[in-house]
Amino acid sequence: MNTYETLIVEKQETWAEITVNRPEVLNAINLQVVKDLSAALDALAGDEDVRGLILKGAGDKAFVAGADIGELVKRTREDALLAINAGAFQKIEDFPWPTIAVIKGYALGGGCELSLACDIRLGAPSAQMGQPEVGLGIIPGAGAPHRLTRQVGPGMARELIYTGKIIDAEEALRIGLLNHVHPEDEVLEAAREMMRTISKKSPGAVRVAKLALNAAVNTVDRRSQYIEILGQGLLFDAEDQKSRMTRFLERKKKREQK
Ligand code: COA
Repeated sequence: MNTYETLIVEKQETWAEITVNRPEVLNAINLQVVKDLSAALDALAGDEDVRGLILKGAGDKAFVAGADIGELVKRTREDALLAINAGAFQKIEDFPWPTIAVIKGYALGGGCELSLACDIRLGAPSAQMGQPEVGLGIIPGAGAPHRLTRQVGPGMARELIYTGKIIDAEEALRIGLLNHVHPEDEVLEAAREMMRTISKKSPGAVRVAKLALNAAVNTVDRRSQYIEILGQGLLFDAEDQKSRMTRFLERKKKREQK
């Protein structure tokens, strides 16, 4: 098995498990996570022993609390146009086998989008989900405008994205953002049990079913992706984004000085 700086990748019975491993920053996604994720997905997609993927975050406090704001604040329009997060998340959606996100604690911003790129989301009661990006002067540019919309419907997606509010597990379940909620210490096992159930079915049929399901929901998504990427590029040029993100980082410094 390859080793990665920011991920733990383990092979289980018939599937692999990827843990985003930066608990000191609530598993925030930096460039290294994106690179590692992309390399791990390429390796696992070509691995004959792997017929499914479970994604989770290290520790109990977060699945992934978003893109790393310390890195985002330095990002330019050109960086944004590279759409690196969107590219890695697309690889998850296109992963040949079923994918399940196991969500404990925060799944915010890019973390919520990462979970939306998975086929299925299982949560613990501690799950807190949302798209707070507009508060930072940017948009969720790695899939939420199209994936959240198709998951929870346009009205709920608009409410979540415009207000940036964070919802708890019960509300996420109610609007269909989570498939199920399981007790904290049982949610991972529930995902594994689902993988076992899937693994008893015909692998060829499951794989083709995933292609058919992706085709069914992806009719307009590529067009939406281009708008997300271009829009994000424009926003990364604006002063508002820099000052809002700096405010988040300064809050950290102020707390340290106390
Ligand atoms: N990027 C970089 N660092 C992050 C982060 C992110 N998205 N989310 C959390 N962290 C860091 C914090 O800065 C803190 O680091 P420190 O210990 O060096 O100060 C550490 O993770 C723990 O987070 P903290 O804010 O102390 O925990 P909390 O329980 O008080 O608050 C959140 C948790 C999730 C509400 C808060 O961290 C937050 O709002 N994070 C940003 C969420 C966000 O806007 N994501 C979208 C980005 S596009």
